[in-house]
Amino acid sequence: MIDLLDIRYVRLGTRDLGAADRFAREVIGLELARVEGGAHYYRSDDRDHTLVYFEGDPHDHTVGFELRDAATLDAAAAQLSNRGLAVAQGSADVHEQRRVAGLIGFTDLTGNRIELVERPQHSGRRHFPSRDAGITGFSHIGLCSTDSARDEAFWCGVLGARVSDRIGDAALLRIDPVHHKIALFPTTRAGVQHVNHQVASIDDVMRAWYLLRDKGVRIVFGPGRHPTSGAVFLYFEGPDGMVFEYSTGVRTIAPEQEASYLPRQFPAVPSSFCMWGSLPDIPEFKKDSA
Ligand SMILES: [Fe+2]
Repeated sequence: MIDLLDIRYVRLGTRDLGAADRFAREVIGLELARVEGGAHYYRSDDRDHTLVYFEGDPHDHTVGFELRDAATLDAAAAQLSNRGLAVAQGSADVHEQRRVAGLIGFTDLTGNRIELVERPQHSGRRHFPSRDAGITGFSHIGLCSTDSARDEAFWCGVLGARVSDRIGDAALLRIDPVHHKIALFPTTRAGVQHVNHQVASIDDVMRAWYLLRDKGVRIVFGPGRHPTSGAVFLYFEGPDGMVFEYSTGVRTIAPEQEASYLPRQFPAVPSSFCMWGSLPDIPEFKKDSA
């Protein structure tokens, strides 16, 4: 079994780097770490970077996860190859761009591009955000799935994720004590479905709601509270239709609870996404929820 230590970064293509850069800094509130090779690298916490916008196809999304060391990365490459997946070894250039010591890339069964890295760099400098959004760090992604049962089995059986809860057939998966770092949403495409940053408190969520409305940013869900993770959330639309989320207060499942924890099944209805009554304008959250 491959042991994903944490989610590390998300890379998103865009045709309009200028607009994406303004959104990342002025709306989301990330820190621009550097511009290199036509890509913009953003920080949200102590890591070297957690979000990248690069000049390219807006459907081109990649998610990076951290493994323990070079040996576990080699073992992961062998396991994925044995399963018939094409595994690409990162070049020296790719390592340098991502500030990692080792990297392999593969595509999951839906077609999501995944990278596994070892020794990714931390920054010695404190995260200095572009605005006071209250961000404490990049935390999870929604990921598209064209076959929930198949992809859940892959993420849990090969990549070591555990199901925390399900809403309909959408599985919320943890790889560490945080309730979910990956959420698989049934749909007909591949790619990242939403990008989450944690904020410090409900005050930050509500401040963002007012600020984003003032800036004319489309709010697509919330403010609300997820009955699954317990997190208070706000979802809004970013460049190229990507959905971004701020949330706070996500529940954790401690290591000593792992053995006895049972995922809960929630029905695919709006109250499973928001216990306050907010209705999503996000296609994957409305599926089968009429
Ligand atoms: Fe989320």
